[in-house]
Amino acid sequence: MPAPDLARIVSLAKRRGFVFPSSEIYGGIGSSWDYGPLGVELKRNVKEAWWRSMVYERDDVVGLDSAIIQNPQVWVASGHADNFTDPLAECPSCHKRYRPDHLDDPEKCPDDGAALSPARLFNLMFKTFAGPVEDSASQVWLRPETAQGIFINFDNVLTAARAKLPFGIAQIGKSFRNEITPGNFIFRTREFEQMEMEFFVKPGDDERWHAHWIEERLAWYKALGIREENLRLRAHEPGELAHYAKATSDVEYRFPWGWGELEGVANRTDFDLSQHEAASGKTMKYFDQEANEHYFPYVIEPAAGADRAALTFLFDAYDEDAAPTGDGKEETRVVLRFHPDVAPVQVAVLPLSRNAKLTPTARAVHAQVRRAFRAQYDDAQSIGRRYRRQDEIGSPLCVTIDFQTVESDNAVTIRNRDTMAQERVPIAELTDALRSALRAMGSARV
Ligand code: GAP
Repeated sequence: MPAPDLARIVSLAKRRGFVFPSSEIYGGIGSSWDYGPLGVELKRNVKEAWWRSMVYERDDVVGLDSAIIQNPQVWVASGHADNFTDPLAECPSCHKRYRPDHLDDPEKCPDDGAALSPARLFNLMFKTFAGPVEDSASQVWLRPETAQGIFINFDNVLTAARAKLPFGIAQIGKSFRNEITPGNFIFRTREFEQMEMEFFVKPGDDERWHAHWIEERLAWYKALGIREENLRLRAHEPGELAHYAKATSDVEYRFPWGWGELEGVANRTDFDLSQHEAASGKTMKYFDQEANEHYFPYVIEPAAGADRAALTFLFDAYDEDAAPTGDGKEETRVVLRFHPDVAPVQVAVLPLSRNAKLTPTARAVHAQVRRAFRAQYDDAQSIGRRYRRQDEIGSPLCVTIDFQTVESDNAVTIRNRDTMAQERVPIAELTDALRSALRAMGSARV
């Protein structure tokens, strides 16, 4: 099944409660989105899977949660105050603003064909004021990347965690960029979440570690079920490298509008630590006991977006196939084939109908299942419609409680989203049976 168009994903996301346009009752606000009951679960699962693979499953990475508002000197030293810019051109007739490097013809307004003004550099950092006085002394920026919070805490973490090279510091959090042309749903927004890890290595070991992290990060998306043919690596051309990078490779996904960056894996050299030492006067060097020398570590940075990853899981999971309606006919069903470790709901518990005879047992089964899995109880509408709904929100398994359950066998039916096969299992063995079914669908976590 080819990737669906964006409109279909946006509509499904709204209908089923993944993502809503923000401030909708006031007409919305361009490029801001709110995550609904299922979207918040999807994004939490993405972040949880990232944290697990980056921190819990490694001996050499620790976590951090630094502030969004930092001393403005951080952004002067890091180079963002001067260099974190995109080209901006304006149409003199309709006054719309564009990124000329994103246009087919960088000199013409795509709306009315007028010649655009010469491009100027526009800084993407959001400015605000800390405290009640709005003057230059109180002006601060909202962080445009989480990475600097890691660099400025390098020495704190080194000492507190008694770390030795090579080691990494991971962080997940909001970043803000005043993008000139946000768009494509949650792909490019002005407020988004990043999942970044700065991995500090001995200079000279950096290229080996860079190659290592590029492969690790590509493998992470594959392990969570993203189809291989929709993923690729792309090395940056020298002209497109960020001001701090010696080399960068992007993990890209094949979106309906073309290949787009999911994450960048950069070799940031010793740029940030040396800049902060020079600007703050505080040491940012590492003491290598074996070599008996002080030096700036080099940094390899895998930097991913949680929103882009969530969007990627939505696109890649989308499928349509034919499903039996129960009366001998078939209908097209929409199914999100989420990997069980990112699926918002892993197991749906469905009594055959809302019936006083079934409810107590169904509730008891739900109580049992939710102890081990992300579970949802649903007894509204016909069972066929509830299966369709669970397919459309990507729940891998449904458990059905019927009259046979309460009248004779104390067993339930497990229905598999992908094969639509049904298996009868005693309630006493249900948790184990669900665990093995989710494992068979790829889960490494249950
Ligand atoms: N610290 C390095 C850094 O921030 P980046 O390539 O600018 O590198 C890393 O950003 C990731 O953050 C991107 O690959 C993307 O997934 C996400 N990201 C960046 N800008 C974004 C935006 N405007 N909206 C949503 N996600 C964004």
